[in-house]
Amino acid sequence: MSMLFLVLAWGTIIGFTWFAFSRILRLGKKADLAAADGGGRAQWGTRIGLILAMAGNAIGLGNFLRFPRQAADNGGGAFMIPYFIALLLLGIPLMWVEWTTGRYGGARGHGSTPGMFHLMWKHPLAKYLGAFGIFLPFTIGIYYCFIESWTLAFSWFSGTGAYWGNTSREAMSGFLQGYQGVAPNEFFASVLPAVAFLALTLIFNWFFLARGISRGIEVLAKYGLPVLFVFAIVLAVRVLTMGTPDPSFPERNVAEGLAFVWQPDFALLGRASVWLAAAGQIFFTLSLGQGMINCYASYVREQDDVTLNGLATTMTNEFAEVILGGTIAIPAAVAFFGIAETQQIAAAGSFDLGFVAMPVIFQQLPLGQLLGAMWFLLLFIAGITSSVALLSPAVAFVEDEFKWSRVRSVNAVFAVLLAGTVAVVAFFRYGFMDEMDFWAGTFGLVVFGVIEVIIFGWVFGVERGWQEMHKGAQLKVPGFFKFVIKYVTPLYMLAILGVWTYQDAVPKLLMHDEAEANIPYLWGARALMLAIVGLNLWLIAKAWRRHDRSPAAR
Ligand code: PHE
Repeated sequence: MSMLFLVLAWGTIIGFTWFAFSRILRLGKKADLAAADGGGRAQWGTRIGLILAMAGNAIGLGNFLRFPRQAADNGGGAFMIPYFIALLLLGIPLMWVEWTTGRYGGARGHGSTPGMFHLMWKHPLAKYLGAFGIFLPFTIGIYYCFIESWTLAFSWFSGTGAYWGNTSREAMSGFLQGYQGVAPNEFFASVLPAVAFLALTLIFNWFFLARGISRGIEVLAKYGLPVLFVFAIVLAVRVLTMGTPDPSFPERNVAEGLAFVWQPDFALLGRASVWLAAAGQIFFTLSLGQGMINCYASYVREQDDVTLNGLATTMTNEFAEVILGGTIAIPAAVAFFGIAETQQIAAAGSFDLGFVAMPVIFQQLPLGQLLGAMWFLLLFIAGITSSVALLSPAVAFVEDEFKWSRVRSVNAVFAVLLAGTVAVVAFFRYGFMDEMDFWAGTFGLVVFGVIEVIIFGWVFGVERGWQEMHKGAQLKVPGFFKFVIKYVTPLYMLAILGVWTYQDAVPKLLMHDEAEANIPYLWGARALMLAIVGLNLWLIAKAWRRHDRSPAAR
């Protein structure tokens, strides 16, 4: 039964990926982007560069750490039913909406959602609603860069064998916590190494952002993504050929591991939480509801396609998520630890799986240092191609609305980023990051997704939107999606939001289950987020006062 689900899911994804890319290849010369139209805003250099940059935006830690856990926790193969429904009714339509909105705004000089909403809805509030599309990804960027820096560090620790000898999960867990600065211990006397790797990570991010769209982000994706795919395929094949690592435990084998990810538990389909988890994962993995796709799409020329490119990037992400992400970490954990223990690992969180269980496994494999370095470098590439995207809307906002130079805009954004980063590192052990992750990375993106799709389908108007979407389109979207964008996507999302608010957000807001000692820090995290929102709203007001004084600058 689990094999049936695996084959169906893999088959669907491979089929659509093939459909999108064979079509692009068949277009030959016509697949190229239109010639640069000089002057004005930055633009992507090549079509393959654009697709890889967008795929890099979407493919992140979510694909390799978050997805397999979500699947294993929420009904295995059965999870793929709400997952694919959410992909079809929320993910793909919103992807097209964001590409279209972004290209429309970019052609009129705006790379972030305040400007885009202002163009689509002539109402003084529109630009302030657009603030979500800057502060959500920016807030996530603050802690995402920290996690990203762990992957760089662990890649180094794997290559040099720094954690070799810590062959139990307990010992590895101690190593990780020492590194994170949760508790100084025999492995790490202070958080200094973590700060050093974080600094390095921020410098890399700064560098690619400062170099701009085609010379920075596009180059990063063009070299990074092929390496990422090669590493992921090597690791997936390695896991699939693992067999039964310890013959004294015949039930711990890779076939059981795949079955664990895919075994459908239909009883769970009756639970709202499973449907929410599936929709949340689709948003997270495709970088939707963040203004991030919009921002990248703003550097697409107005006469260039968005429909076929949108589908191609979506399918590239799904390939990396369901086929590669679903085959590496969890099946490997089952082969080495058995089902019961893997369940505990999955319940303990994404980091236990990636940074504790995997290093224990590498120590038992031939060439483990190399495989470990590959695993963490793969995560680092997935991370950095996403973190530059998380920070892009803020940079584009400063650059477009205040007409600052690229480098100066990046510097301004990094100044705020650094202040936030210090708090995340210093208060990490009190759940500071989790608080930000819930509001910005889980709840916020659905809120903003609803706003976006309503502005597109109802305010701008679905007919106008449809026409805009099909300018230069190399794929005619089935008319059914017009109905989906107008009614199904917003209603589906409002329903999710309603249940979610009631079930999770209210208890979370009132801090029902939080440890007493952490509460002051969680308020600190909220204060930080509110400060970011406030700063953002103030800057929007300031920018528009400026526009009003010199209307030509719009
Ligand atoms: N989509 C990327 C990921 O899967 C980055 C991202 C994370 C985007 C969180 C939005 C929210 O990691």
